[in-house]
Amino acid sequence: MNEVSDPRIQELRERKAAAHLGGGADKVARQHARGRMTARERLQLLLDKGTFREVDVFVTHNSSEFGLNEQKIPGDGVVTGYGTIQGRLVYVYSQDFTVFGGSVSRAHADKICKIMDMAMKNGAPLIGLNDSGGARIQEGVHSLAGYAEIFYRNVRSSGVIPQISVILGPCAGGAVYSPAITDFVIMVKETSHMFVTGPDVIKAVTHEDVTFEELGGASVHASKSGVAHFAAENEEDALFLAQHLVGYLPNNNLQDPPLQPATDDPLRQAPELDTIIPDNPNKPYDMKEVIRHVVDDGQLLEVHEHWARNILVGFARLGGRPVGIVAQQPTVLAGVLDVEASQKSARFVRFCDAFNVPLVVFEDVPGFMPGLNQEHGGIIRQGAKLLYAFCEATVPKLTVIVRKAYGGAYCVMNPRHIGADLVLAWPSAEIAVMGPEGAVNVIFRREIQDAEEAGARKAELVQEYRRRFANPYVAAAAGFIDNVIEPRETRPHLINALEMLRNKRDSLPPKKHGNIPL
Ligand code: HXC
Repeated sequence: MNEVSDPRIQELRERKAAAHLGGGADKVARQHARGRMTARERLQLLLDKGTFREVDVFVTHNSSEFGLNEQKIPGDGVVTGYGTIQGRLVYVYSQDFTVFGGSVSRAHADKICKIMDMAMKNGAPLIGLNDSGGARIQEGVHSLAGYAEIFYRNVRSSGVIPQISVILGPCAGGAVYSPAITDFVIMVKETSHMFVTGPDVIKAVTHEDVTFEELGGASVHASKSGVAHFAAENEEDALFLAQHLVGYLPNNNLQDPPLQPATDDPLRQAPELDTIIPDNPNKPYDMKEVIRHVVDDGQLLEVHEHWARNILVGFARLGGRPVGIVAQQPTVLAGVLDVEASQKSARFVRFCDAFNVPLVVFEDVPGFMPGLNQEHGGIIRQGAKLLYAFCEATVPKLTVIVRKAYGGAYCVMNPRHIGADLVLAWPSAEIAVMGPEGAVNVIFRREIQDAEEAGARKAELVQEYRRRFANPYVAAAAGFIDNVIEPRETRPHLINALEMLRNKRDSLPPKKHGNIPL
């Protein structure tokens, strides 16, 4: 750095250097020893080189309780500011665990709120890097007040700017509710934990023995609770995921998602798709393969990859344009719709709709999951969420019926009747009230019972039913699907449809807000 003679500039430099030290070399070393970066190191990795501009470097807390007066560290445990990711503006905060364990004082919360207000006013995404012991205990209700103001802004910003939470350390108690309200939660395996009550409290109340990782580690939240959308292997991976995600999202709800020059031929056909559906309709195939053959460069950023794997949601591009994909995964529970799959996909559909990301559905759904667990778990209420979300969405909505579209699940999975703009079907599509076996058992029960060779008669009737109903042409004759296409042509058809829908206008009737069955 250049030498300066002006003592005031010298003082400024010294003050900044002190702030950059955070809680001091010892605490930084402890953070590193645990495989965690400091708040500033993380921001350097997240943002384009040299673009970070910090605000409120010199803010300190106002508390004199418990000797805090003597411990004022500039920045007060959170680094806030703005910068760019791939040239696009984002607002960021990064909690500094080396300062009071990253705990949230009123001043710390005010810094976060200021940056949230700037993000809202200027219409750019907010990315929070969380690493905190929670409410600053010494500040009592002042800390709680700060938290509540953050939550309030999270909700006010919801659907206006994308909000991403990266969890890089502890995130406990009520503090979890800020990430929970944001659009995406990225956790790091082994080093980040989220829970409302920790292992000690659980032991005292329910006598259960549980480790931090079993209770609220990344793997648990990414596969069991659905709290985390992504579980990264390490911090670098988590920050890369945040960058990658931003690449698919618009800056705010008034913009379209960022178009990229297409690197994959929009007219490219995929002959592999013609043979991907097994002859036996009960045999699975990997829907990810189907999607990879269709989207640009085979790139899919799967969201909630490890939770409710019978449905698959994620971001991809078609002709350079970001789309949100919703698809059944026949390799898991035959792609049936259950409680968790409905929740997962409903939230994704609502995100895409809020941020102008067109929806593309690949459908192969045998129906809703039967069972006591499902009924008692609220499959009626949860399935209704997905139905509601598709009905409510006004973005371009495309559906490709790849194979099964049975029963109520047909009505839920974005058919034309609830506002799909274009429905395409492959020749392998089967669209009916229920599968041939079930249907024949109901409508020909007596005939089968009375037949001399019940098994043979049933097989004959199943065959006949399949020929008459388990195909796309009944729906096509009614105009419920717009076209039956060769599987290899799916990509050019979808890209063409997105182009056709580029200026789509649709809106909901004026209302304060709907009442989605939460
Ligand atoms: C003040 C805190 C703090 C807190 C940690 N520290 N949490 N200071 N308020 N909430 C301080 C520690 O005193 C310590 O200071 C330094 O941060 C590092 O903490 P360690 O305990 O040494 O770190 P570690 O061993 O990694 O343990 C991390 C931890 C633990 C698991 C987070 O610190 C912990 O349990 N903290 C309390 C968590 C908690 O109960 N928070 C309140 C949750 S309720 P020194 O000076 O020794 O380095 C809540 C409500 C939010 O947050 C409500 C929103 C509505």
